[in-house]
Amino acid sequence: MIQHKVDFILEECGLEEIVDDKIKELLTTAVRYLDIAYAPYSNFHVGAAVLTDDGKIFGGSNQENASYPLCMCGERNALYHTAMASPSSIPVAVAITARTEGKLITSPVMPCGACRQVILEYEYRYGTDINVYLLTNDNKVYKVNSVKDLLPYSFDGSFLS
Ligand code: THU
Repeated sequence: MIQHKVDFILEECGLEEIVDDKIKELLTTAVRYLDIAYAPYSNFHVGAAVLTDDGKIFGGSNQENASYPLCMCGERNALYHTAMASPSSIPVAVAITARTEGKLITSPVMPCGACRQVILEYEYRYGTDINVYLLTNDNKVYKVNSVKDLLPYSFDGSFLS
């Protein structure tokens, strides 16, 4: 039997170690969007932001619904916000952070499977990697270079051609 091993690098640093101004702004935008999450059912606020190849930044937050399956994640709202507001821009990085009542989130909140698949679609669409940054409440920053690292052996449009 052949065994295929999959691994990837998850970088970790302190927020103060981030020197790129655009990445700082990206992370700050994700934090700002926590305040406009609509999460009365889970009380779990997710803020996200997308940086594009031409230096624009668009945010998104989760928007919940009494009919739970209709809840929309912050990451997807940020990506769709980007696609609507600046259709000629290419996403190059996504930042994600979360906040909940009474508990400091000190581990990186990873994008759910659906959001990974949607981020992947934009990587496939533009033939680029999208860096994923995860910011914790105690200001640690985690980074993966591509969502493919978080979704190995994934399904994309190449299977359909
Ligand atoms: N949520 C996100 O916004 N992004 C994710 O990747 C995971 C979950 C939201 C959906 C829901 O509003 C709340 O977090 C609890 O699941």
